[in-house]
Amino acid sequence: MTKNYFIKTYGCQMNIHESEKLAGMLQSLGYTSCDKEEDADVIVFNTCCIRDGAETKIFGNIGALKNLKKKNKNLIIAVCGCMTQQKERVAQIKEKYPYVNIVFGTHNLNEFKEYMQQYLSSHKNVYEVWDQEKAIDEDVEMYRTSGWNAWVNIMYGCNNFCSYCIVPYVRGRERSRNMLDIHKEVEHLVQQGYKIITLLGQNVNSYGNDIDDKNITFANLLKDLCTIPGDFRIKFMSSHPKDLTDEVIDVIATNKKMSKAVHLPVQSGSNAILKAMNRKYTIEHYLELVDKLRHKIPNCRITTDIIVGFPGETEEDFAMTYDLVKKVRYSGVFAFMYSPRKGTVAASMDHQIPQEEKNRRVNKLLALSKQIIKEQAEEFLHTRQEVLVDHKTEQGEFVGILDCGKDVILNGQNYTLGQYQNIMITDKKNNQLYGCAE
Ligand code: SAH
Ligand code: SF4
Ligand code: F3S
Repeated sequence: MTKNYFIKTYGCQMNIHESEKLAGMLQSLGYTSCDKEEDADVIVFNTCCIRDGAETKIFGNIGALKNLKKKNKNLIIAVCGCMTQQKERVAQIKEKYPYVNIVFGTHNLNEFKEYMQQYLSSHKNVYEVWDQEKAIDEDVEMYRTSGWNAWVNIMYGCNNFCSYCIVPYVRGRERSRNMLDIHKEVEHLVQQGYKIITLLGQNVNSYGNDIDDKNITFANLLKDLCTIPGDFRIKFMSSHPKDLTDEVIDVIATNKKMSKAVHLPVQSGSNAILKAMNRKYTIEHYLELVDKLRHKIPNCRITTDIIVGFPGETEEDFAMTYDLVKKVRYSGVFAFMYSPRKGTVAASMDHQIPQEEKNRRVNKLLALSKQIIKEQAEEFLHTRQEVLVDHKTEQGEFVGILDCGKDVILNGQNYTLGQYQNIMITDKKNNQLYGCAE
């Protein structure tokens, strides 16, 4: 009889990709993926701790597994990722959720297969979290699950210590992968038919800083990857404004293989708040980058992350953030309410903002962003665009995705899945775009 696994992923793209590595390990042990927790022999929660809400939700969901375990004594439950990289969370699981069998952190993710084997032979719970990162392991099995898109890590960890952020504590210091290893992986993925390659790092702009060779830079990596033959696009995230170089902007501008959708997290529109956040750039510098991007890449689409209610954020500070969103007219705003993370500098700052105020600010910002995106959808009408023919609806219509990720329903049947296709945007109903082949 086949044995099944179910992986639930919380958090960012980095975690989504790491779940593909966990899946690879389970497949090599003979397990098959399933869609429901109830059908699984192994359940893995790959966790996030970026905000308090994420952790609360995860603990709620771990609690809910108790019943499944009662029904199936042989069920194996594993919890890993950023949340369990924190020792106190592991202690909490050990004490309150003893039916969780395997717990590990981010630094020992690649050991999961070992822990599975250990548990299967001993039936003793495994709790193992490493304090420090180890050298990059290139020998990982992966089971990719993101359609035409393939995630590719170019670096791990973060050195920036933004004052609100837990990531440097749970992901360790920056480690860049060897350029040749990345090149080989991307080449192989393109040969396998992947059409979007998304490079991952907490701050891709600092790729190579930890390697003693001044030619190993993010711009040079992009240039190198663009020489790989094939019809594919390269995306990346995230890009820190403090070290986005002109050279990187030029590579995006001049290379057809580079996606023109750029995620450039600003976090706040106020210099005082940016300083307190330890972001190391001013809003003037940020706006200069936006100008350069718009000037050199006329069709570029910029998205951002914003935190509202950072300690000490006044009504005036928030008004500056609001005005910034109006000015830049982002194609997407991921707005978050500040959540104090234990151990970070901002958690012990004075003048924490009340929850209702954070709510009010986030809603105001999201309403503005929604309005801008609605207006932008109008601007797509009767323009020529390129889509990747992605999938078919249940009704048999082809659906294409624009560079910025928006769906377009395509008229007619003359398309090939997985191909880039020039189209005309012909119509828009509610928020749905329609188009047809040129
Ligand atoms: N390395 C990426 C960010 C990863 S975290 C970067 O620097 O762009 C994703 C987003 O979560 C951040 O951009 C930030 O907006 C938000 N975030 C991080 N810590 C947070 C906290 N303590 N409270 C609320 N939002 C937070
Ligand atoms: Fe967190 Fe800042 Fe690092 Fe991004 S750059 S992961 S926000 S510390
Ligand atoms: Fe990502 Fe959450 Fe970890 S955002 S890096 S999974 S804390």
